[in-house]
Amino acid sequence: MKLEYLAKTGKIGNVVTRNRMMMPAMCSYTAIKGAVTDATVNHYARRAEGGVGVIVTEMVNPSPGCQCFAGNLDISNDEFVPGMSRLATAVHAQGAKVFMQLTHGGVFIRNAEKLPQTPSGIGTFSLAGAEVHAMTKDEIHQVVEDYGQAALRAKIAGFDGVELHAGHGYLLVEFLSGYYNHRTDEYGGSVKNRARLSVEIVEAIHKYCGKNFPIIYKIASEDYTPGGITLDQSIQICKIMEDAGVDAIVVSGGTLESRFHDYMDVMNGDQKIDGKMELTKGISTATWIPSTYCPRGIYTDNAAAIKKAVSIPVATVCGVRPEKGNEMIEKGEADFLALGRQILADPDCPNKIMEGRQDEIRQCLRCNECIASAGKGVALKCAINPCMGHDYMEHTTIHKAEETKRIAVIGSGPAGLVAAITAAKKGHQVILFEKADRLGGLMYYVGKPEFKIDYQKYLDYLLHMLEKSSVEVRMNTEFTVDTAKEEKFDKIIAATGSETLVPRLEGVENALNPLDILDGKIPEAKNFIVCGAGLVGCEVSMHLAELGKDVTMIDIVPDAHAAHMYAVDWSINAKLAQDGVRVELGEKILKIEKNAVVCQPRQEKMPHDPRILQTPVDLSGPYAEETVTFTGDAVICALGMKAVNTMAYELKDAGYPVEIIGDAYGARKIIDAVHEGFHAGRRA
Ligand SMILES: Cc1cc2nc3c(=O)[nH]c(=O)nc-3n(C[C@H](O)[C@H](O)[C@H](O)COP(=O)(O)O)c2cc1C
Repeated sequence: MKLEYLAKTGKIGNVVTRNRMMMPAMCSYTAIKGAVTDATVNHYARRAEGGVGVIVTEMVNPSPGCQCFAGNLDISNDEFVPGMSRLATAVHAQGAKVFMQLTHGGVFIRNAEKLPQTPSGIGTFSLAGAEVHAMTKDEIHQVVEDYGQAALRAKIAGFDGVELHAGHGYLLVEFLSGYYNHRTDEYGGSVKNRARLSVEIVEAIHKYCGKNFPIIYKIASEDYTPGGITLDQSIQICKIMEDAGVDAIVVSGGTLESRFHDYMDVMNGDQKIDGKMELTKGISTATWIPSTYCPRGIYTDNAAAIKKAVSIPVATVCGVRPEKGNEMIEKGEADFLALGRQILADPDCPNKIMEGRQDEIRQCLRCNECIASAGKGVALKCAINPCMGHDYMEHTTIHKAEETKRIAVIGSGPAGLVAAITAAKKGHQVILFEKADRLGGLMYYVGKPEFKIDYQKYLDYLLHMLEKSSVEVRMNTEFTVDTAKEEKFDKIIAATGSETLVPRLEGVENALNPLDILDGKIPEAKNFIVCGAGLVGCEVSMHLAELGKDVTMIDIVPDAHAAHMYAVDWSINAKLAQDGVRVELGEKILKIEKNAVVCQPRQEKMPHDPRILQTPVDLSGPYAEETVTFTGDAVICALGMKAVNTMAYELKDAGYPVEIIGDAYGARKIIDAVHEGFHAGRRA
């Protein structure tokens, strides 16, 4: 089905777009010292090639020294114009329009040149204890001037317009939000005063660029802080901005401190979880980039409410599925659909929508590997799109093979499926061996809980692409050394996956396998104990809790699933709390009994650290002499996964050309499986 409303042309000011799909601003971390690189140009050109109507660039810094992170783009002086003009030209060459997002970092500034800048000296938990600067009026006036000049540079570079970022914790939203803005001058107090900085910036852009250079305004429609922005206020702000001459609005939500204090109180046990806190809708950064564990489309109602109040176009953003965006445009609740991570995951998604090929869309998992890499300050990565950030480069290009080879791929998990599909694209003869009677490997289990529907959809996509490919699939067929002997293969890709680890633990035979639980083999019982607070333990616990079971999750670590990245871990913790899972951390598991788990508790509990970023955790104790016994009706052991690779190494030792990829190499994450699968197939 063609989503006809998304396919209609759109208009922002005097700029006509080929459809109603927008790529919202997303940092690509491809800049070097603020300047556009080849990787930046390729990144945007590739997205434009995929058919999107209008691209808003990642945040670009308008004021000297006010960028947030290394890797951000800059336009605070003329030397950045040539690079920017390459970017604009490349996007136009592919038929899309391009707006430059201008973002003064505000309290987000993390560089040596300047202290974080704020309206009133209110800092942020993410820079706990750091000195922040309360801006003087002269400094505010300078920022206004900087924005005007930056917009002029964007215009000279060939951009179609600019976007002002007034959400997510940067300078403009800090002025808008009563949480950060305590000023008593004309920039603080009433909504009108708090919007004054934004209005003056619009006036400065008009002064430098004229009124025919369109301006988009991206707003945090609510910021979930004490004294912060409410929907009523953001409606007022949007009307003020429309009167000031803004041409379109993008409706997002959240700032750095959103729901953060409630979250910490719940995590540290000072406060009981209360549904009204809505912690599962995102905390801090996760309010504008929510993960799989959060609902989709959390700002669609706000977009519809703002759309009612203004007469300029409104874009809806944040986990909005194309069907929903299409429906909103049809109903007059929005004019544009912004597809962020989805366009990172599949740049061709707009073209596929235009052509009614939705079943070929590689749907974003919202796993937030993208924002996790950004958080580490490394080039952006996408779990399911290995080319992202490396578009049009030799090491991500699939060339047709000069000679057709016979390739065996063993295992049909994500690594094997991606390897097989990619090798077949090159023109090779590919045979996929699967010993089970179904395809998908571990992905079969991963997508089972309702909250992991994004993963189920990704598996459906892979299976659809497999069906369309020339890959020969042999189900119920175990690949052995004899298979390699009997059939001649030029390359064997071993993607044999992983299985549940059974640790050397007294009584472990009493425990159930978490994969069986995910597969619906759940005993008639009420109270479950889950050993392990890694990702599998967390998800099995949530799944059981959602089925109405009482669940206690136990682990030695101080935080549940603390190895990923904060914006995802917060959502996991919030969901565990909301689902009523009892989380017992700092417990060394000594013994598993049929209906109980015996533990040795850490003498001093470690407090929840919201900023944990793969920091090594000291588990050496001390632990109490006295043990604690947790009782229940059934025990599940989710203490890790183990690579399945004995046969693969046997083949290798026997001299066959074998490449071992994905979990078979070492049990890790889906990003590793997909990337290794892609490259093994590409090099075949
Ligand atoms: C890696 C990454 C970087 C982002 N950088 C920006 C940014 O520079 N400016 C901005 O306004 N929003 C930024 N965002 C937020 C997106 O524009 C968008 O609002 C958010 O991803 C939700 O939309 P989605 O669910 O369609 O991805 C970023 C998001 C991601 C994933």
